[in-house]
This record gives sequence, structure tokens and C-alpha cells, in this order.
Amino acid sequence: MPKDLQKITIAIDGHSSCGKSTVAKDLAQAFGLTYIDTGAMYRAVTLYAIEQGLYSPHGLLVAELEKALPHIQIALRKNKESGQVETWLNQELVEDRIRSLEVSTKVSEVSALAFVRKRMVELQQEMGKNGGVVLDGRDIGTVVFPQADLKLFMTASPEIRAQRRYDEMQAKGEKVSFEAVLENVKSRDHIDSTRAESPLRKADDALVLDNSRLDRQAQLAWVMQQLKDRSWAV
Ligand code: DC
Repeated sequence: MPKDLQKITIAIDGHSSCGKSTVAKDLAQAFGLTYIDTGAMYRAVTLYAIEQGLYSPHGLLVAELEKALPHIQIALRKNKESGQVETWLNQELVEDRIRSLEVSTKVSEVSALAFVRKRMVELQQEMGKNGGVVLDGRDIGTVVFPQADLKLFMTASPEIRAQRRYDEMQAKGEKVSFEAVLENVKSRDHIDSTRAESPLRKADDALVLDNSRLDRQAQLAWVMQQLKDRSWAV
């Protein structure tokens, strides 16, 4: 008998800006799953640190952030009109602010902190405990849900990823050079995959999806085929 998708846990990991959220949103939409954007949660913690003055001229005040952690409430809520999942920080909608270049530049350092990760992982496990979820991040298949039913590891070349991010930012009117975006993509790759805490790595049982040359429909079709091959009722 085909397996019920309402119980499925799909883990999508991979480099920054390689389209993880697009696949995750498309799968959520196609099958009525809950989309959990774990990067947004680390971004929200980073935004909190910036807006609460937890940066000195010498950098992040780590001990202050640790003290503040119990006061940081993060929620991912579906906007009933747009159908999009949005990030809320302490009852305030922060979806746009967490995508700024300043947050993007600072988030790798924040997400490398063990106490931040511990709290976010607990929250993510709680959010996904009943299944029917698709999560994207860096450590979903390795740490958050090592028993996930389907694990994808996505990648694409740094130049292609930087171009996508650059186009998104241009569309939003953010003034930024392509070189700065490429630099940010490369530096985050480096930090994400070399950090001590849960470095980005492919789970042994993850399927690799390189979408450098796949469009949105083609990549969704590819994932659907993987689900079908594993007897999920797509
Ligand atoms: O996916 P994103 O670019 O929005 O993620 C923002 C940052 O958060 C990125 O630098 C890596 C980090 N991150 C993480 O360490 N673990 C996750 N599960 C998700 C994101």
C-alpha cells in the first residue's frame, strides 16, 4: 500500500542560495505539508542581536546573546492571504528584515554558536514531531531529523547561486554589487562547512540534487519521482 504523505518528514540540506526553499515550498504546496524554514530561525536570532544592540565595535556580545536567548520567541506562521510562511520574532513580523545583507553577513557567526543551535534544533523537532513536514537547512538530515523519510542534499555552483541571490535583491531594490553577493555566498559556504557545531555535510543516505541546470518544474518532477520510487502516494 502506498505510504501516506501526511506523515512524511522531508529533510532538505545544502549550500546557501541553491533553491532549497523553492523545492521545499513547492513540495509543501503540492502535498499540503508544513514548510519549516530553519534558516529563517537563525536569521531571526541574528536580527534580534542587531536590533537589541548586542554588537559592540569588536563584534557580537556572545554572553549577552546567551542571556537573552530565553526572551527570543520565534514563530513561523502561514499568511492566510498569500499562503506564504512568514517569520515572527517576539510577536513582530520580520520576514523582510531577516533577508537583508546585514543579517546575511552576520548570520553564519550566530548560527555557529552551540547554545543557539541547541535551542533552534529543539524548536524544530517540536514543530515537526507529528510529521507532514518539509524542512530546509544545513543539519536537518544529519542532526534535526536523522530518521527523515526523504533526505535531499542540494547544490549548485557559487556563481549561479550568487546570480540568483543578486537578482532577488535587485528585484527588491536593494543596492548591492554582484561581487559582494558572490563574496557572501563563498564566505558562508566556508563558515557553514568548516564550523565545529553541526557543519554542513551530506547525510550518508541523502540524495544529491545539483540544480545548476534544472528549472523549477524539472527539479520538482525529479523529487516527485524519488517519492514515487519509494512508494509514497504522490
Ligand atoms: O538558508 P539560509 O541562507 O536562510 O540560512 C541562513 C544561515 O543560517 C546560513 O548561514 C546557515 C545557517 N543555518 C544553519 O546553520 N542551520 C540551519 N539548519 C539553517 C541555516
